[in-house]
Amino acid sequence: TTKSGSSMKEGIALASRFYHHLLMHTEQGREAYEYARHREVSEEALRRFQIGFAPREREALSLLLKNRDFDLREMEQADLLQIPEDGHSPFDRFSNRLIFPIWDQNGKVIAFGGRALDEQSAKYLNTRETPVFKKNEVLYGYHLARAAIRKQNFAVLFEGYMDVVSAWMAGVENGVATLGTSLTSGQANLIQRLSNHVTICYDGDAAGQKAAIKNAETLEENGCQVKIAPMPANKDPDDYIREEGPSAFMTNMIESAQSVISFKMSAYRKEKNLKREGDRQAYIEWVLEELTTVRSPVEREFYLKQLADEFSVSMEALKQEQYRIYQRVR
Ligand code: GTP
Ligand code: MN
Ligand code: MN
Ligand code: MN
Ligand code: MN
Repeated sequence: TTKSGSSMKEGIALASRFYHHLLMHTEQGREAYEYARHREVSEEALRRFQIGFAPREREALSLLLKNRDFDLREMEQADLLQIPEDGHSPFDRFSNRLIFPIWDQNGKVIAFGGRALDEQSAKYLNTRETPVFKKNEVLYGYHLARAAIRKQNFAVLFEGYMDVVSAWMAGVENGVATLGTSLTSGQANLIQRLSNHVTICYDGDAAGQKAAIKNAETLEENGCQVKIAPMPANKDPDDYIREEGPSAFMTNMIESAQSVISFKMSAYRKEKNLKREGDRQAYIEWVLEELTTVRSPVEREFYLKQLADEFSVSMEALKQEQYRIYQRVR
């Protein structure tokens, strides 16, 4: 019911304030605070994103919630704590982690992402699915970015919390993130409601690039026009911004984002050696096949021309070949 949802959200909101307070103002939170500052997260960003710290002691939050008369079974359903079956006291779900609150569309905290401060435990631990948190329906930072996405008429889609935070410090106010890599239609719709232009800025590793293409397709199916930023293989947006600076990030990543087809073409070329005739032929056929998914005739013509010039083939021949492929794939 709505009532239980609302008291659940009250408990989560209290947890969020508690975690943020610990990070910002207590000795307990100092190590995490230094970790964040070491990663160059500004005070202002810590406040904007309400970043917090879940202390090492595993009963800190549970005791607070108990003292404030929250229904601990409900708090367990919210995945804030666990109640052992053997009658021992409840213990907190998050411990010794930097905490990123995750909000619903109205700016109410509904879940958390917790980052380990060391390399020992799982890097990120997220709230499990709960009555108020459906991971596949949420975009991190959505309510903070909403106005900027409308105003600038595009959204930037990242992989991680830290990417959104870093990019915001670099001046990107229209950034949101999937929680993990894959994007659902529901999430695409959240963006599409505000603008139908999306720039995907995923990690440069193979997993990130693969997910970028897949999510681009989901966004296109939901009526968005998509570009993909050319992230170097060994970096993610947060690394890039810290290493190259905000203005290089704007110029070389956001403003240099490519259409999905040229992004795919670059990726393909990195794998094959186009000096070999067999690979060259395969590449041309592959591009022609990919072009059957490009809706704009102008864009199709543009890439055909590019192929014709690069490989000294006539437009005529390319069009004939394309027609043949089109007959086959439809
Ligand atoms: P940093 O190392 O702190 O810069 O994190 P990152 O954002 O670069 O992490 P990564 O690229 O590995 O992952 C991107 C996003 O995927 C994270 O922000 C999380 O939402 C999610 N993620 C990553 N690792 C895990 C994990 O071990 N468990 C879960 N549940 N989610 C993860
Ligand atoms: Mn438009
Ligand atoms: Mn990644
Ligand atoms: Mn990353
Ligand atoms: Mn990172």
